[in-house]
Amino acid sequence: TVLLTLGPTRDPWDAVRYLSNSSSGLMGACLAVSAWMRGAVVKVVCGPNAFDLPPGIETHPVTTARQMSEAAADLWPGADIGCCTAAVCDFRPVPPRGVEAGQKLKRRSLAGDLPVISLEENPDVLKGLGLSKRSDQTLIGFAAETGDLLGQARLKLDEKRLDLVVANRVDLPGSGFDSPTNSVTVLDRNGRSEQWPELPKPEVAWRIWDLLRHL
Ligand code: CTP
Repeated sequence: TVLLTLGPTRDPWDAVRYLSNSSSGLMGACLAVSAWMRGAVVKVVCGPNAFDLPPGIETHPVTTARQMSEAAADLWPGADIGCCTAAVCDFRPVPPRGVEAGQKLKRRSLAGDLPVISLEENPDVLKGLGLSKRSDQTLIGFAAETGDLLGQARLKLDEKRLDLVVANRVDLPGSGFDSPTNSVTVLDRNGRSEQWPELPKPEVAWRIWDLLRHL
């Protein structure tokens, strides 16, 4: 049984405005479908605008990071493998002062002052799974980086108690968010690493499941 998170999260500021990102969910969808084709029971917690997955895959649609965290934590004890691909927003906006829940901030009410948006921290879904991981479970994470790819990925492998981390640059063409291809380096808990060329995301997904056999 494989548990996957995919897509962006979306945290509202008021009734019509929100904080999110441009994740397409494609990498996670490729991992979900390829795990399912290889015979796994697949459970997906997906953010808004994610792909339509085949009916054989159990999907749990969520919107906010806190909803994703709760849904993933509930499903984790029943999974053998966890894989977090979701681009979870690390911060959520604090609703504007004086605006009731479910209401819209009116421009007229500002009296010339621009609103200042404050943020508060969201849970780290993957780290939560890592902290409660049993010895019979395997956990895979991604590392979306703009700078020191390998150093940051190794830190995430340790801090989130992962078995495998898939590191990708999100500031290069042909890789990362909203791209049909990805160029990744995979690092495992035993210190092994492999750098793969730019590949279509379905092929990256297939290779990730192949790698688990050698962990
Ligand atoms: N992740 C998560 N929940 C979060 C943030 C990240 O589950 N609130 C997961 C992602 O799905 C990914 C991994 O953690 O598998 C790394 O995400 P990334 O965005 O690269 O890094 P962060 O942990 O958010 O750290 P930073 O933004 O500082 O690089």
